[in-house]
Amino acid sequence: METAVIRIDKDTPDPGAIARAGEILRAGGLVAFPTETVYGLGGDALNPEASRKIYEAKGRPSDNPLIVHIARMEDAELLSDALPEDFYALGRKLWPGPLTIIVPASDRVPRSTTGGLSTVAIRFPSHPVAQALILAGGGYVAAPSANRSGRPSTTSAEDCIQDLSGRVDMILDSGPVGIGVESTIVDLTGEIPALLRPGKITPQRLAEILGKPVIHDGAVKGQAVEGAPKAPGMKYRHYAPKGVFTLVRGEVPAVRDRIVRELEQAHAEGYRTGVLCFADTAPAFDADCVAVLGPRGDLEEAARNLFRALRSFDENGIDRIWGETTSEEGVGLAVMNRLTKAAGGRIVDAI
Ligand code: TXA
Ligand code: MG
Repeated sequence: METAVIRIDKDTPDPGAIARAGEILRAGGLVAFPTETVYGLGGDALNPEASRKIYEAKGRPSDNPLIVHIARMEDAELLSDALPEDFYALGRKLWPGPLTIIVPASDRVPRSTTGGLSTVAIRFPSHPVAQALILAGGGYVAAPSANRSGRPSTTSAEDCIQDLSGRVDMILDSGPVGIGVESTIVDLTGEIPALLRPGKITPQRLAEILGKPVIHDGAVKGQAVEGAPKAPGMKYRHYAPKGVFTLVRGEVPAVRDRIVRELEQAHAEGYRTGVLCFADTAPAFDADCVAVLGPRGDLEEAARNLFRALRSFDENGIDRIWGETTSEEGVGLAVMNRLTKAAGGRIVDAI
């Protein structure tokens, strides 16, 4: 398949380009497009054939459900016959924006879109190109992140081209995204709202709006919750570079010294090495690929640069990678969540 790559202005999307992209979606085709979080791989959410194509293009197991994107709050009513009050409370405050809400699915949602589940994930993105495309495509766009399954998500059209060229009909290019990590996911189908994936919107903010606690990491305020829900996608290998990736935690100088020692040893053993770090320590590292997240402490900048940084290791054929860690304040919770997954849980203390 020939993939058309179309440049499109973020704030005033060209109506002709949007109309063409919308036609592709209505005909059951695939369009990769920008959102405020990451790029998405879109197909018509109400067309089972389109979701089948999404799974195929992404190389994703079909039991991992897709998020349905809408561009008008009231369109959620077709997707669910049982929208709880909490849905409206969150939607009114945080939509359009980087939040996905899980509710019971209506019969109108193909089970191929929900990975066989009787619940549906709904998101109303704020990106003007995403909104225009959703409306042009019929109002309901199923879209996972626009990366090959298992790889870091894509935050620019160049990264989409790398993963999806020849696999989608069109890529809409509005330049790099603003947030850089995927939307916060909250599940409203249980007794207590549950955070399934951290993002720019924090669990504290959700709890504040809802006026009640939110389950996070299987617990509420340190108390474990029996059978707390998980996002089905979280069981799969995610975001991981091909090289062995280890996070090093501790005081900044101790972490720096530990990574310097690890690099020396890895070089002696003949490995190609990589480091993921902040700008202040970057000059200390003699590695084949040093990926900088930005100034230390600027977690929003770190979020924006994270997936590009992770991708740079594979591009440079790196086999051993060490990474600094961040605080879990604000979007730092999402950054550390993605880093921990990318490292397959390998975290060591600097000593
Ligand atoms: O920011 C985002 O959310 C991006 C952009 C494109 O909107 N999309 C995205 O989609 O990150 P994806 O497919 O890469 O991640 C969606 C996650 C998966 O882990 C999936 O398992 C979970 O959402 N999910 C989807 N539907 C679900 C459901 N009904 N119940 C529980 N988890 C669900
Ligand atoms: Mg994804």
